[in-house]
Amino acid sequence: MENVITLKNVWLRYDSRQDWTLREISLTIYEGEWLTLVGGNGSGKSTLVRLINGLIQPTLGEVAVYGKMTCDPQHLRNIRQNVGMVFQNAENQIVGMTVREDTAFGMYNIGVSPEQAEARCRNVLQMLGLYGLKDHPPYFLSGGEKQKLAIAGVLAMEPKVIIFDESTSMLDTKSVQQIHQIMSELHRNRITIVHVTNEIEEIFTADRLVVMQKGMIRFDGTPQEAAGNSGVFTDSGLLPPFSVRMRDIATQKGLKLPAMSELELADQ
Ligand SMILES: Nc1ncnc2c1ncn2[C@@H]1O[C@H](COP(=O)(O)OP(=O)(O)OP(=O)(O)O)[C@@H](O)[C@H]1O
Ligand SMILES: [Mg+2]
Repeated sequence: MENVITLKNVWLRYDSRQDWTLREISLTIYEGEWLTLVGGNGSGKSTLVRLINGLIQPTLGEVAVYGKMTCDPQHLRNIRQNVGMVFQNAENQIVGMTVREDTAFGMYNIGVSPEQAEARCRNVLQMLGLYGLKDHPPYFLSGGEKQKLAIAGVLAMEPKVIIFDESTSMLDTKSVQQIHQIMSELHRNRITIVHVTNEIEEIFTADRLVVMQKGMIRFDGTPQEAAGNSGVFTDSGLLPPFSVRMRDIATQKGLKLPAMSELELADQ
C-alpha cells in the first residue's frame, strides 16, 4: 500500500505555550485506509490533523503528504488539493454569498470548468439534502446545515484524502448516519479517511484506531485490538465502548469472554 501521509518524530509547541502540545509523533497513513483518531479534549487531535494539510508546521520533525514535505510552501497548493479538511467549527469555513457559491468556491480555485462545477455542486448538495437551500445566504443556515455545507464544499473538490475533525458534532442522528454512509461510500472508492471523533461507538467502522493521550500516541492498532483492553480508553480519559464495558462487567462477575462486537456479545 502506498504511503499517503507520514509524520516523522514530530514535536510541536505553540508559540504562546510552554509545554509541548505534541510529542514524539510518528505515524504513517496508507492509501485507502480509514483511520479514526480519538482522545480526550486537548490531547492534540486537531493539532495533529492541522499539521497534515500544512496549516501549522511542526517545531521538530517532518510531515509529508504523497512524499511532499509540508514545510515547503511550494507544495502547499498541491497538498491542499489532495487533502480536504472539514474543520470542527463550520462557521469559519463559509466564504460564499449563497450556498451554491460557497460549495463551488474551492473548485473555481483549482480550475474546474463552470459546467463541471455546476454538476458537482448539484450532486453534493442533493446528496446532503441542501439543494433546496442553494440560493440562500449561508449565514441563514442552522448549525447542522452549515456543517453539511462545509462537507459539501470538500466533497465537491474530490480530494484523495478527507479529514473529518468532529464534523458531525452538531448533526441530528439521522444526518450523522447520512454522513457515515457517505464516508463508507468514499472508503469503498479508496479515498483515504482520517476521522477525528468524540463518539466512541464510531470507532468500529475504522480499519485502524489511534488513541491520543496528552499529545502522544497511546494506542495504534485495530479497533478490535483496542476493545480487548479497556485501559486503552480509560487511561486517555475516555469511556470505553458499550461492548467493552459490558465485557468488563461480565468478567468481574466471573464470566470469561473474549473481545467482541455488540452483536457478538448479544449472541453470547
Ligand atoms: N493556536 C493555539 N495556540 C496555543 N495553544 C493551542 C492552540 N491550539 C490548540 N492549543 C492547545 O493545544 C492543546 C491541544 O489542542 P487540540 O485542539 O489539538 O486538542 P483536541 O484533541 O483537538 O481537543 P478537542 O477534543 O477539545 O477538540 C490544547 O491544550 C490547546 O489549548
Ligand atoms: Mg479538536
